[in-house]
Amino acid sequence: MARLKIAVLISGRGSNLQALIGACSAADAPAEIVLVLSNEPAAAGLQRAAAAGLPTRVVPHREFTDRAAFDAALDRHLREAEVELICLAGFMRLLTDAFVERWRDRMINIHPSLLPAFPGLNTHARALEAGVRFTGCTVHFVRTEMDTGPIIVQAAVPVHPEDDADSLAARVLEAEHQAYPLALRLIAEGRVGVVGGRTVISDAAAPSEALLNPVALPADAAPDPSCRN
Ligand code: GAR
Repeated sequence: MARLKIAVLISGRGSNLQALIGACSAADAPAEIVLVLSNEPAAAGLQRAAAAGLPTRVVPHREFTDRAAFDAALDRHLREAEVELICLAGFMRLLTDAFVERWRDRMINIHPSLLPAFPGLNTHARALEAGVRFTGCTVHFVRTEMDTGPIIVQAAVPVHPEDDADSLAARVLEAEHQAYPLALRLIAEGRVGVVGGRTVISDAAAPSEALLNPVALPADAAPDPSCRN
């Protein structure tokens, strides 16, 4: 079967790009990266792409007078490379509605929270502030409203009492590197449909058990006296 041609759009480090490179390097991978595109000339992810022998393009957003012109340049590169699916991987530019609609159900994003919780920036600090016991990441189809769209895969990650935003980000990032390749494989294998604003995934099962956080302490452990009121 022909491999799905994907472009990975980045702005920085590119660790999710690396996870997708790994996923696409398997002999039986259902997708291939035909283009890595960055809006930042200094993005470290560009080196990762070059090391993997992938075609790269830099489209510096500062050189464009408006978003529409920038998006038109992106679109041109994507079409030239005959891209079938766009994977946003830490791509930190807002895209115009026209671009998003043009690539409707052919553009996915990874976001470091369990959407619809914590859209936008500083997700880990906000999760800690809210005191949630789980956070995680979401791979979703892109819609015009930021960080919305039909959810394909989520990974839940526990929050630990001693976490700060950096330690939590590192734990979530590990989950991102599992979730993004899984979402890509499901799409490339033709197993993901979008119906009424939600995805339907064929031949997949959900875990059957709840995950609790915190886990129970031994019965003889001394309770925290400050919790007795
Ligand atoms: C990832 O944590 C990704 O979820 C996040 O940026 C990071 C990019 O890391 N994306 C967003 O916040 C988008 N709203 P990476 O460059 O190492 O893949």
